[in-house]
Amino acid sequence: MRGSTRVGTALMVALLLTCASPAFGYYYESTTTVITDCTVCHGIASPTTATPTGPHGGYTATTDKCASCHQVHAGPSGGVMLLPAATVKGTCQTCHDGTGGHGVYGVLAARSVVVTASHSIETTAMVPGGDATTGGSKLGVFSGEGNTLTCSDCHSPHASNVVEPFTGDRARGSTSVTIQTNRLLKRLPTTATTPTAVYGSDWCGGCHEGRLSGSGPLANHPVDSTLSTTTPFFYEKIAKVTGTLTSVTTTGTLGRNNFGYVMPDPRTTDQSGHYPICQQCHEDARNVGDVSPQQVAPSEVFSITATDGVSASDNPRFQTFPHESQNPYFLAETYDDLCLNCHMPD
Ligand code: HEC
Ligand code: HEC
Ligand code: HEC
Ligand code: HEC
Ligand code: HEC
Ligand code: HEC
Ligand code: HEC
Repeated sequence: MRGSTRVGTALMVALLLTCASPAFGYYYESTTTVITDCTVCHGIASPTTATPTGPHGGYTATTDKCASCHQVHAGPSGGVMLLPAATVKGTCQTCHDGTGGHGVYGVLAARSVVVTASHSIETTAMVPGGDATTGGSKLGVFSGEGNTLTCSDCHSPHASNVVEPFTGDRARGSTSVTIQTNRLLKRLPTTATTPTAVYGSDWCGGCHEGRLSGSGPLANHPVDSTLSTTTPFFYEKIAKVTGTLTSVTTTGTLGRNNFGYVMPDPRTTDQSGHYPICQQCHEDARNVGDVSPQQVAPSEVFSITATDGVSASDNPRFQTFPHESQNPYFLAETYDDLCLNCHMPD
């Protein structure tokens, strides 16, 4: 019964927070009011930025994390797996409700920004570019109601069989620092047939098979993946420029800097034999390569000064990829602005 009491408390507090301060929704990260028992959501008593997995992992005989999601008795009717809500999305949203503008869904709407691209949840099973042979759409069988795509198709709620840690862009809280975590990303997202140990093109290609170059009879823009090379780049290891207004490159993470979104032309030794990964074109919208072609100007460096898009001049303003974006198709930049980051036709 303890589980249901806790989730009940979480919901109640969330409602109180919503009433007192709509901007905060269910989000709770300080000791200011109402809940002092952080265990309700984090599964541990004293969470810090150094324990970013919350209730999703680190299970031991003395932790009490299962109960933050599973009620052993008296779950909601229509519910599954003894979870607090009737759907997976509903369960995730008991804690990760972004409608107040925090999190990964609902953040754009909360800042009156139109959502132009999204991995929409529990609405579709159709994967654009999912068919390796035709490059067309393919109907998938996902874990949401009616086989639709839901959170647990990409994320493992228990952090089991997840990819290696990587540096994400997102500033998770006011005191957030650079964190390397696995983001609970499954090595085998639903419909993928080959597990991927690292987050990169092959991970996306597990669902979007028809967008990997060399996957079938079709021509796609070349993409670095296991289909194109035996040692493909991935999110934590790409070639990037070493600083502002330079064409010198090094290898490192794509995360928390903007230096991997341009590719100097002519290509450098680090880039030789490699193509861009999906995330060098598909990521949170940002400005790069506009001032000086294939370079990053001082005005274009990675800069996040506030959480969750509060500061309109942050670059990138939002860190919600691959959940929702203001740019079509989750493009980092649009039209020729994107192509010119890496190409300068004669
Ligand atoms: C963050 C919420 C969350 C926490 C914490 C959590 N679970 Fe789950 N659990 C889920 C969800 C969501 C599902 C259904 C989706 C799925 O299977 O991936 C699930 C499914 C299950 C299943 C069904 C089969 C399976 O393995 O997928 C079992 C058994 C289970 N959980 C046990 C546990 C135990 C034991 C703990 C604590 C050590 C725990 N869970 C902690 C959310 C959670
Ligand atoms: C009981 C509350 C609760 C529920 C329910 C819950 N989460 Fe979480 N989740 C948390 C907390 C707390 C954190 C840690 C945040 C931090 O410390 O930065 C977290 C972290 C995460 C992270 C980041 C992990 C990392 O390694 O960086 C992901 C991804 C995530 N949750 C997804 C989900 C999904 C998907 C579901 C539904 C299956 C879900 N959560 C359900 C509370 C919850
Ligand atoms: C578990 C399967 C799955 C994975 C993994 C996945 N996608 Fe998708 N993707 C989908 C589905 C399903 C849709 C359709 C969503 C919709 O219509 O809202 C989609 C839509 C898209 C779209 C079109 C969005 C729009 O609104 O136009 C792009 C672009 C995209 N995905 C890129 C990616 C990239 C890049 C990755 C890797 C970071 C990725 N996807 C990982 C299943 C997946
Ligand atoms: C198509 C796959 C996909 C789906 C569906 C998806 N996510 Fe994610 N999610 C990701 C990826 C990839 C990342 C890591 C992005 C990064 O750090 O660059 C991520 C990151 C996160 C994070 C961590 C953000 C941070 O602060 O670092 C949370 C929390 C999260 N997702 C929650 C959810 C919830 C809740 C749902 C469902 C409502 C969901 N996700 C659906 C792919 C997905
Ligand atoms: C109602 C559920 C809930 C409660 C209660 C809660 N948290 Fe959180 N907390 C979350 C969620 C969800 C996140 C992740 C938010 C996100 O990524 O958008 C989070 C994130 C955090 C973070 C990471 C953000 C950052 O600044 O880096 C810290 C630290 C944290 N919480 C500390 C605490 C402490 C300490 C308490 C108890 C005083 C507490 N939380 C109570 C749900 C909760
Ligand atoms: C060189 C940049 C670039 C790379 C690399 C790239 N894309 Fe795209 N992608 C685009 C552009 C531009 C569009 C916009 C629509 C179009 O031109 O087809 C797009 C559209 C899409 C779409 C949605 C529309 C459609 O055509 O079905 C999906 C899904 C997608 N890409 C997935 C991926 C995946 C998965 C990868 C990695 C395997 C990838 N892309 C690599 C630039 C890129
Ligand atoms: C992140 C860097 C990057 C971006 C952005 C990018 N490309 Fe490329 N593109 C490359 C690389 C690397 C190659 C491999 C050949 C080379 O080094 O020029 C390539 C190859 C090509 C080719 C030759 C394809 C072949 O099969 O030989 C074309 C055409 C092309 N890109 C067009 C585009 C267009 C159009 C856009 C904008 C929608 C674009 N590229 C965006 C990096 C990029």
